[in-house]
Amino acid sequence: MLEAWYNRGMDDAKEEIRARLPVEDVVGQYIELKRAGRTLKGRSPWGVDKTPSFMVSPEKGIWHDFSANKGGDIFAFVMEVEGIGFREALEKLAAQAGVELAKYRGGDNMVAKRKARAKEALELACKYYQYCLTKNKRIIQYVMEKRGMTKGTVGNFRIGYAPQEGKALLKFLEARGYRANELQDAGLLNQYGGDLFRGRMMVPFIDTNGVIGFTARVIDGGEPKYLNTPETLLFNKSRFVFGLAQAKEAIRHNNFVVIVEGNMDVISSHQAGVREAVATSGTAMTELHLKTLSRLTGDVRLAYDGDAAGVKATERAIMMAGDLGINLSVISDYHGAKDPDELIQRSPELWQEAVTNFRPAVDYLLDKYEENLDLSSGAGKREYSDVAMKLLKYVVDPVERKHYEQLVARRLDCTVEDLHAKKIQEKPRRLKKVENVVEADFLKGVIDNLQAILIYGGVTGVKGVELPEEETKLAELEMVYETRYKGWTSEMLEKEAKELLARYKAESRKREVDELTERLAQIEQMSDEERTEELDREYEEILKKIMAIKRA
Ligand code: UTP
Ligand code: MN
Repeated sequence: MLEAWYNRGMDDAKEEIRARLPVEDVVGQYIELKRAGRTLKGRSPWGVDKTPSFMVSPEKGIWHDFSANKGGDIFAFVMEVEGIGFREALEKLAAQAGVELAKYRGGDNMVAKRKARAKEALELACKYYQYCLTKNKRIIQYVMEKRGMTKGTVGNFRIGYAPQEGKALLKFLEARGYRANELQDAGLLNQYGGDLFRGRMMVPFIDTNGVIGFTARVIDGGEPKYLNTPETLLFNKSRFVFGLAQAKEAIRHNNFVVIVEGNMDVISSHQAGVREAVATSGTAMTELHLKTLSRLTGDVRLAYDGDAAGVKATERAIMMAGDLGINLSVISDYHGAKDPDELIQRSPELWQEAVTNFRPAVDYLLDKYEENLDLSSGAGKREYSDVAMKLLKYVVDPVERKHYEQLVARRLDCTVEDLHAKKIQEKPRRLKKVENVVEADFLKGVIDNLQAILIYGGVTGVKGVELPEEETKLAELEMVYETRYKGWTSEMLEKEAKELLARYKAESRKREVDELTERLAQIEQMSDEERTEELDREYEEILKKIMAIKRA
């Protein structure tokens, strides 16, 4: 029983770490990876390939080394490459991901149970804050008049108020049977064990599971302006997309999403009828945010500030978008307003119009660079071509890239060849050293190929091969299949399967004979005293076995 709890906890930890560490980042610390379609390619870290044979699928979160015949998830990679065991790999990656393993260890701390309790507490807290809002004139005035929210919006986003008094929520929840450590798990307490949120407007973070945290704004000019739930078992800011619960349907239906900077911009936008708006809460956009959105739509429109930080954020988004098959564009005309919220307070129609008035992010950035540089000077042209060509590396489609190269060449009064003659420095990368060079495992390669064909190639009638059921292994085999056998006819596949099976049988026989022969040699070398009757019998058995295998 304890064992089961423990394992469940570790599965949660593994899942959490996998979600936070993209496979390409983990592998990328050891190997230079280059994009090749949906996968990334590099040289085997074990030094056994002549051409790049190491592949990574960011989508599936797995890797496969076609020369060394190894593969798996990030844990398997670190184990192989560092030559360490699972425990050690788990600890290493947990540290990289910022995941506290202690939180996941079994026993009384059973994670699933703790999560469930924290979730209940957060739901109750949300209801409590909503109730407190109805009892406080000042917050009602702030929410309705100053922020211009309607009753419907207050209800839809479950806006509330955290009383000023230091232990109001704590008392409320303790009276309902919650213990301090459970409220700590929920992220509701401060370091002194009192309420974390006091005298603030409360905006819950809601995901498909319900309330997982809050962002809380001061009503007068206190500091900090916003206080957010810290990272907890439930709330992970690199993954959470604010407003998605309310926006999902509109995003699917109208097939676009608008990413705004502030949570309050999301709320105003929904009220103004643009229900496709979401935000990343108090953090820069991550690949996980974009990945989540890319499942709903490929049309992602950024409504960021036009300042330097906004440009940086847009560049970051471009670097991630190409890989996810996202069409990234920028909404930039706020008619002089500071952010969407301010524009909406002035006129909801202007915002409705703004979100249909978007331009490709690349065009936007190329214009921004031009604004900030003097293109009549040599130095200005050099700098412009530097940043522009760096950006264009992330334009995956060759035709589209050519279009932009021609545009840049025209702006600089040079040729596309001149631009290509520039040596654009890849960001220098420090790669970790791989110590253990290995020999390719021939037998494992044969089995991988065979299993891949049997599972994904629709070949039937091959008996005597065990097929894996584990998800990671299946994903790996799918990549093996797509890389090796895509486009093969069923006759070709059948023939290959037969050959592989024959090779597999021959090789396993050879290995068995080798092992048995080795044992024979061991026994032969023993002294007369050591050589018991039992060993004599074993010797005879082994001889018989070897003969039988050779006859087969
Ligand atoms: P802004 O300062 O632009 O706030 O920060 P805002 O969204 O316009 O908020 P209002 O309109 O003044 O209420 C942008 C975002 O940065 C995060 C919040 O997510 C905010 O929406 N932020 C800002 C914090 O997390 N903490 C802060 O103290 C300030
Ligand atoms: Mn604002």
